[in-house]
Amino acid sequence: MSKRIFISGASSGIGEFLAYAYASRGAIVGLSARRKDKLEKVAAKCREFGGEATVYQVDTKNRQASKDAADDYTHKIGGIDLVIANAGIGNHDDIINGDASVIDDILETNIIGVTNTLVPFIPTMKKQKHGILVPISSVASFFALPYHGGYSASKIAIRVIADSWRITLHKYNIQITTICPGFIETPMTAGQKNMPFLLPVETAAEKIVSAIDRGKKTFVFPWQMKMMIPLLRILPDGLMRMFGSH
Ligand SMILES: NC(=O)c1ccc[n+]([C@@H]2O[C@H](COP(=O)([O-])OP(=O)(O)OC[C@H]3O[C@@H](n4cnc5c(N)ncnc54)[C@H](OP(=O)(O)O)[C@@H]3O)[C@@H](O)[C@H]2O)c1
Repeated sequence: MSKRIFISGASSGIGEFLAYAYASRGAIVGLSARRKDKLEKVAAKCREFGGEATVYQVDTKNRQASKDAADDYTHKIGGIDLVIANAGIGNHDDIINGDASVIDDILETNIIGVTNTLVPFIPTMKKQKHGILVPISSVASFFALPYHGGYSASKIAIRVIADSWRITLHKYNIQITTICPGFIETPMTAGQKNMPFLLPVETAAEKIVSAIDRGKKTFVFPWQMKMMIPLLRILPDGLMRMFGSH
């Protein structure tokens, strides 16, 4: 079981509940996100669960701030066992008005934010000769989700980066586990319609912990959603329109 764990996007949703899952197993968690007040509350609850917690107010789009947090955590705790790059946003592309700022923000947060989070830990993991890197991708990385082209593309990008790094980093005994959740009940999906096989966030966090422990390369869940992927990939556009709204 990993003890020294850094989680980005730990102020709500999947990241928050991963923090509780690991804290209740006695982990020392580093929690990062932009909303410090929320992070402090999550950290307090982690301590109640029996873990130790340190908070980092970081915008993952900021490369230097991400590196500073990683350096501070590894220095304080004396190493790193597991990093989960969970921070992400899931907005509509919002391209109709001719302004690329929304889709650009999605791409930057969900791709660059992930590399900014994971890469600074690699030298320590190399030195230690062990470590686990976990990007949170999505089932949406297997097909083009209508209205969410930026989101689907960002999740494909990090899945492919992870597949490449798994080979690159194998010789340093660094495990890469990519997580591809279906619909999970979090603030990101609140108020959305048409969410087949929706899972409670606590269940999702436990499934993710188990997949990482088992050393899975790519974990797609729930299984019903995984079974639907081949079908979703060949659906005509007319039917795909049912999977998004504007
Ligand atoms: N929920 C689902 O159905 C689902 C399905 C598949 C994949 N996922 C993925 O799972 C991950 C977590 O999503 P969630 O559902 O738990 O959503 P959420 O509750 O909205 O949580 C997103 C987290 O990311 C953080 N974040 C966003 N932008 C950030 C930035 N620029 N810098 C630092 N932190 C940032 C947020 O914190 P601050 O706002 O405080 O910064 C928050 O803690 C995302 O990568 C999402 O794409 C979710």
